[in-house]
Amino acid sequence: MSRNERTFIMVKPDGVARSLTGEVIKRFENKGYKLVAIKMLHAQRSVLEKHYAHLADLPNKNIFPEVVSHMTSGPVVAMVWEGRGVIEGGRQILGATRPWQAAPGTIRADYATDVGRNICHGSDTVENANAEIGLWFNNEIVEWNRGKVEDAIY
Ligand code: TYD
Repeated sequence: MSRNERTFIMVKPDGVARSLTGEVIKRFENKGYKLVAIKMLHAQRSVLEKHYAHLADLPNKNIFPEVVSHMTSGPVVAMVWEGRGVIEGGRQILGATRPWQAAPGTIRADYATDVGRNICHGSDTVENANAEIGLWFNNEIVEWNRGKVEDAIY
């Protein structure tokens, strides 16, 4: 596992509205992951349709339009985090998709009850992480080094 592994993490409109952006950032910082890109934006429908394309195949055809509708209801905070095992580790910090199945102590267990209002997104595979970072960010990754702190953490 490379120390340069990257994942795409997003605080969704419900998380932003509930002032949980800092809570999400804090948990990734506390773990030792490195923030290399961040921006607040109103997500474009065209981007969301690509990001959530897999939901269009679900048996329940309402989910995809409902998710796109919710995700355009307010701003999101999009981020790229870097660190060894950050894709899997980031998913552990978020917790399971359905908050009632999320392990205690995870963000979704601690702050959510509804799958459609589960606070945050995190990439689940290397392929998806790379695709999502490319979809949401365009030459906005900040390469930086924490010096001695970096050596202590990795
Ligand atoms: P999915 O990609 O399955 O999960 P994750 O976000 O953990 O990668 O689903 C994307 C989002 O779609 C999910 O975070 C919330 C929403 N969603 C629903 O609202 N209802 C559902 O039944 C599912 C499966 C997802």
